[in-house]
Amino acid sequence: MSARPEVRQFLHEPTSTFSYVVWDPQTRRAAVIDSVLDYAENAGRTGTDSADGIIEFVRREGLEVEWVLETHAHADHLAAGAHIRDRLGGTTGIGEGIRTVQRHFRDVYNLERGFLPDGSQFDHLFADYETFHVGNIEARAIPTPGHTSDSLTYVIGDAAFCGDTLFMPDGGTARCDFPGGSASVLYHSIMRLYELPDETRLFVLHDYRPNGREYRNETTIGEQRGGNIHVRDGVTEAEFVERREGRDRTLDLPRLIIPAVQVNIRAGRLPPAEDNGVAYVKIPIDRPGDFSQSYSGESA
Ligand SMILES: [Fe+2]
Repeated sequence: MSARPEVRQFLHEPTSTFSYVVWDPQTRRAAVIDSVLDYAENAGRTGTDSADGIIEFVRREGLEVEWVLETHAHADHLAAGAHIRDRLGGTTGIGEGIRTVQRHFRDVYNLERGFLPDGSQFDHLFADYETFHVGNIEARAIPTPGHTSDSLTYVIGDAAFCGDTLFMPDGGTARCDFPGGSASVLYHSIMRLYELPDETRLFVLHDYRPNGREYRNETTIGEQRGGNIHVRDGVTEAEFVERREGRDRTLDLPRLIIPAVQVNIRAGRLPPAEDNGVAYVKIPIDRPGDFSQSYSGESA
């Protein structure tokens, strides 16, 4: 059995997001995964109350942050990685697929010349299957594209942080209709996770409380293989793709997708301030080829 890190979750209710602090109990070295920046979109105001809760916890526990990680460029919340790193130190990291995502959104948002789609906004880009350490605990970055092309699952000791690759077993999987997403690719990513030991603890990024149950964020690979409503043992790729794409056709876009991607491809920093000292996010109007449809319904 691999080493067992301590894990503490932080729920950001407005976006149903679980952020994590993961640490090696021996060295008390830690990783912060998928932290959230508060954002009031109608007022154009960011806030750090949620992220500051994580910072307080890290300080109170006497942890030393080595890594500030993102599982992917999120579309439904703004990332607080830069804020966390500025205050606690550590190395920011995301998958090297972020460069493809950055190229795409640089064009969509016609970003400033100084924006380089080379991943340099992050301190470290993980290659597929790259290994690293949190304290003395071995960790690796497993490529799990499908929801987005840059999605990674961080496996730290016996704990896996899968981002939006899987929800809880009764929640199924995340959507695959964003730019660079693919249900078929997601299926193969999930099969890769299902090769991990059954007892691997699996921590999900979002929980939308199916059927109004309480929030849940932790399961195991074995539970997913036995009972995930979208993809469990015995579900074929064709069955999954049909199910996933059918559901994606019913989903509305996430409320924060436009500001979120513009901040998250910059590692959680706002765009550069304009000559009046204020940062802006852009809304492309009727850009050909963009989301041409708007459905009402859930956005998970
Ligand atoms: Fe996501």
